[in-house]
Amino acid sequence: MMRLPCLYHCLIVICFTAASAIGCKKTATPQVGPTPEATLKGTAAFPMGSAVVASPLNTNYYYQGTLLNEYNSMTADYEMKFDITEPQEGTYNYTPGDYIVGFAAQHHIRMHGHNLIWHQALPSWVLAFKGDSSAWENLFATHIKNEATHYKGQVASWDVVNEALRDDNGALRSAETTPNDGSGSIWRQHLGADYIARAFVYAHEADPAALLFYNDYGQEWLGVKLDSMIALLNSLTKRGIPISGVGMQMHIDINADTAAISEALRRLASTGLLVHISELDISVNPNNLTNITFTPALQLRQASLFESIAKSYRANVPPAQRYGITTWGFSDADSWIISYFHRQDWPLPFDANYAKKPAYFGLLKGLTE
Ligand code: G3I
Repeated sequence: MMRLPCLYHCLIVICFTAASAIGCKKTATPQVGPTPEATLKGTAAFPMGSAVVASPLNTNYYYQGTLLNEYNSMTADYEMKFDITEPQEGTYNYTPGDYIVGFAAQHHIRMHGHNLIWHQALPSWVLAFKGDSSAWENLFATHIKNEATHYKGQVASWDVVNEALRDDNGALRSAETTPNDGSGSIWRQHLGADYIARAFVYAHEADPAALLFYNDYGQEWLGVKLDSMIALLNSLTKRGIPISGVGMQMHIDINADTAAISEALRRLASTGLLVHISELDISVNPNNLTNITFTPALQLRQASLFESIAKSYRANVPPAQRYGITTWGFSDADSWIISYFHRQDWPLPFDANYAKKPAYFGLLKGLTE
C-alpha cells in the first residue's frame, strides 16, 4: 500500500529534476487503485480453455468466477457425448450440453464440441444394436448429423473422432477385439477402416463452418501411435477430407519428458493442421501411492512442467496453427483423475479451494516469457 505514493513522489521528483534540462512541462498522472492481475486468457496470444461440467458451473460461484476470469475457451467434459445426448434410441437429451453452450455464448467464450465419435461413453442401445452395415452406417451418420446440426453456429469446432488408435501398435482400434474394452471400437467393427474419413464428411455436411479435429492421447510417447497418427492425418488431408486440426490431449504426469513433448508438438505441427493441446493435466501421483503429500518440491516440479509445456507450444507450433491450450478442468476439486483412479492427486492449476497453485504461475510464466 505504501509503494504507490512513493512511486508517484519519485516520478514528480524525476520530472521536476529533468524539467530544467529537457523542458518537461507536464506532471505525471498518478496511478491509483490496484494493478489488474495477469490472467491466463489475458496473457496468452491464443485461446486458453478448460473442460467444464454443467453442475458446478450453474451452482458454484468459485467455479464460475474462476472460469470467467481466466479462460476464453470451453469444452464440455461429458455433456455432449453420445451416452448423454441420446440415452435411448430416438430420445434426445441436449439439456446439459445446451446449458454449457448457452453459458459460453452469453459470456463470449469459444465453445469446442467434444465429441462426436468415440468407442467409449456410448449408450447401451448402441452397444446392443443389431443391424447390417447399412443400418450401422445410418446410425453413425444420423448421430453425427443430428448433433452437429443441433449445435450448428454455436460451437466453433468439434472433436469429430476421439481416440481411434491403439496404444500398443498404432493400428486402428480393431474389429477383432471386444468393443469398448480399451482396444476395440464398435465403429471400426461395423463400419470398416475408413469410418474416420466419413465421420469428418458427415460433420462437415451438417456444419460447414465448424473446424473439425481428430483428438487423441499419447503423442508424447513418440512411438508407433504418433507415427500412425501423423500418417492418418496426412492421408486425410491429401484426400481432401475436411479436417482442420489435431488435438493432443496430454494427460501426463510429473515425470513427463519435456524434450519428447516438444518433438511431438513439432511433428504434429508439421502436418500443417491446427494443433490444440486439448485436455492437459499433470498427475503428481502416477503410481497411485496411498500416503502421499503434495510437498513444495512436487508443487515446483509441476509448476515447472506447466511452464515448459506452454513455452514448448509457443516454440514448436507456428502462431497460425495455435488453436490453444485447454486444461481438463481447472481445480483439483473437479479433476477426473481423482474419481477415476480413486487416489489423491493434484493435477490442475487451481487447488481444491480454487486458489492459484504454483502450477498456475508456472503456466502463466510459460505463456509470458
Ligand atoms: O451418466 C451420468 C449422468 O446421467 C449424470 O447426469 C451425471 C451426473 O454426475 O453422471 C453421469 O455419469 C458421468 C459420465 O461421464 C457420463 O458419461 C460421470 O459422472 C462422469 O464422471 C463420466 O466420466 C467422464 C468420462 O470422460 C466419460 O465421459 C469424465 O468426467 C471425463 O473427464 C472423461 O473425459 C475423457 C475425455 O472425454 C477423452 N479423453 C480422456 C478423458 C478422461 O478420461
